[in-house]
Amino acid sequence: MRIASNSLKDLISFYHSELNTIYDSSEIDAILHLALEHYLGFSRTDILTKKESNINQSDLLKLYFCCKELKTNVPIQYILKEAWFYNLKFYVDKNVLIPRPETEELVDLILKENKSALSFLDIGTGSGCIPVSIKKNNSNSIVYACDISIEALNVAKKNAALNKTEIIFMEADILNEKEVLKKMAGSFDIIISNPPYIKENERDLLTKPVIDNEPHMALFVNGKDDIIFYKKIIDLCQQKLKAKGKLYFELNPLTAENVLGYAKASKQFKTVELIKDLSGKMRFLKALKN
Ligand SMILES: C[S@@+](CC[C@H](N)C(=O)[O-])C[C@H]1O[C@@H](n2cnc3c(N)ncnc32)[C@H](O)[C@@H]1O
Repeated sequence: MRIASNSLKDLISFYHSELNTIYDSSEIDAILHLALEHYLGFSRTDILTKKESNINQSDLLKLYFCCKELKTNVPIQYILKEAWFYNLKFYVDKNVLIPRPETEELVDLILKENKSALSFLDIGTGSGCIPVSIKKNNSNSIVYACDISIEALNVAKKNAALNKTEIIFMEADILNEKEVLKKMAGSFDIIISNPPYIKENERDLLTKPVIDNEPHMALFVNGKDDIIFYKKIIDLCQQKLKAKGKLYFELNPLTAENVLGYAKASKQFKTVELIKDLSGKMRFLKALKN
């Protein structure tokens, strides 16, 4: 494995030839964009216009080792220890899920619909991408976030500090209703969650970089009931979501209808609706409490 010369053009060809068994061409371009932005401060335009320019030896070496690690299936975000979400930079490591574009769509929907000073609770916060983006864009709100993983909470706290936002974090197991009710005082205007939702039988659909690196506690719902997290959170809304409050979920399209059915049957909501993501999949649920 050798880069033909110090030119950006040859580095780009090198990444494509080394990584084409793991990623498709557009994914390699996206990886290159993140790596070149991180190591050289290059914008997308720089990448297009500076193809003939030479990269100094020290930066070239960093980009070479980055490619070597990518070849072992480590996602670029874990190598660079950063991920972009809703135009904000987040620290990420293997203790947290890499924030996804669908979740940015959810945050965008929530921010557009809830502009006043409100209280928000994010359940299963991971990197803290949801509460930090909400607080950053609705600074008068009071934002709470919880997770079962202490390691994830440490990452989320780091991200709140990096983005100069104040979030109230709590360690809580959302499947343990008694514990949650004891730990969480009061109730909230908005409850949000992107819980683990990948079913055991969908494991084979995940790519090797995801399955080998991202925390399984964040990805998979274990046991017989695929929508257990959604059910527990809907049950919790009886006590923790204020009257006229709103519940927002990110969903697995395969179980979206089941979650909708459970929310409707709980009889605590005036309206419950499923919302499609940009790729046309049933990805979100919004419910308005009586
Ligand atoms: C799909 S990830 C979502 C992370 C982040 N909110 C995002 O959208 O990128 C699910 C999160 O739920 C947390 N989690 C898993 N089981 C939990 C439980 N029983 N109680 C609370 N959080 C849990 C995981 O640690 C993980 O951070």
